[in-house]
Amino acid sequence: MTARVVSPARGPLVGDVRPPGDKSISHRALLLGAVAEGTTVARGLLDAADVRSTAACLRALGVDVRWTGDEAVVTGGDLRAPEDRLDCGNSGTTMRLLTGVLAGRPLEATLVGDASLMRRPMLRVADPLRRMGATVDLAPGDTAPVHIRGGALTGIDFEAPLASAQVKSAVLLAGLSARGTTRVREPSRSRDHTERLLRAMDVTLDEADGWLVLPGGQRPRARAIDVPADPSSAAFLLAAGLLVPGSRARARGVTVNPTRAGLVEVLGAMGAEVVREDEADDVEPTATLGVTPPAGGLVAAMLGGDLVVRAIDEVPVLAVLAAFARGTTAIRDAAELRHKESDRLAFVARGLRALGVDVTEHPDGLDVVGDPARVLRGGVTLETRGDHRLAMAFGVAALRADGPVTLDDGECVAVSYPGFWQDLATLQGG
Ligand code: S3P
Repeated sequence: MTARVVSPARGPLVGDVRPPGDKSISHRALLLGAVAEGTTVARGLLDAADVRSTAACLRALGVDVRWTGDEAVVTGGDLRAPEDRLDCGNSGTTMRLLTGVLAGRPLEATLVGDASLMRRPMLRVADPLRRMGATVDLAPGDTAPVHIRGGALTGIDFEAPLASAQVKSAVLLAGLSARGTTRVREPSRSRDHTERLLRAMDVTLDEADGWLVLPGGQRPRARAIDVPADPSSAAFLLAAGLLVPGSRARARGVTVNPTRAGLVEVLGAMGAEVVREDEADDVEPTATLGVTPPAGGLVAAMLGGDLVVRAIDEVPVLAVLAAFARGTTAIRDAAELRHKESDRLAFVARGLRALGVDVTEHPDGLDVVGDPARVLRGGVTLETRGDHRLAMAFGVAALRADGPVTLDDGECVAVSYPGFWQDLATLQGG
């Protein structure tokens, strides 16, 4: 863990950056490639620690994954039992989706991860997979290690208690090899990347009365997959562009999938227009997103309900923006954030308070008191908890401080955005 000092912005952020490949879609490209018939070529892949964890686990399961730069060639086939425990690193998506893949295979595996991942809830995937016929053992507290013995599965009707794309995807991936039909319904629509990719890979997946309907006994067909840029990574650049006066920052090639568009919706409510250019449509819709600080300044907004699901990973940086919005921004219905790479409600609140912001913590959210003219307190050291999105959110906040801000760990951004500090410097002309 290496500390990083972030200096206040020297001048406006101007220019274009292509954020790295979408993390969710990169995981799925590798996992679906591994179970597909044929050879999948994924381009624009995110080369970062989390996706590397998925690739390493697949290799340990005997899958041929050849990865150079941002391109991976994956040859689908049977999986074999791993010799060791599968190390998912910091990646909840790897652990939960891979458990779904393994549920329908006649082999045993144990999935582990770093200290953060070993604290995260796993019953949410174990429960439906057990109902489908897999044997899934968890540690006391229903956390990892996840020990799975897969085999013959039967499709179920699964009414998910929470909107989670990881849980939904685990059940769909298991359902591919199940006998009978698997049906999944969630309380509100979480990101639909798995559904889009499955259909693009010729899997029959219907929708009826709010249920996803997946007939079992199907195998995806390999195809070329172009991974768009990650809106959750773009969010930090766009937020920085909104906070520093005179900026004109753009993020190219970003997926504008409506199930991920919460950030754009909240920014609109805060008085900041996000301009879309170069729109294109493939498996995912994409666009270049551009922002300039609104003339009248940002205004406070309410962030709650389904909107939270569409902006779940952007809440830390939205809380930073809220500190500069006129009025009090209320974030609610976001208790899930306590179960991410860190307790993001607690540690965003702690970090913002250290920077001089008045924040009230609620069980499911935050109240952030904003002031467009605010200058944050420099000279402080902030705790990132090794959480990539906290580090980047605090890095953006530091641009508006009265002196350098130290992050206890600047390297953890490598989990999802290894080039983040460089891209931020590039936009500042560095
Ligand atoms: C993800 C789903 C979300 C998100 C995570 C990635 C995915 O988690 O927070 O960063 O790739 O499916 P949940 O499914 O737990 O909400």
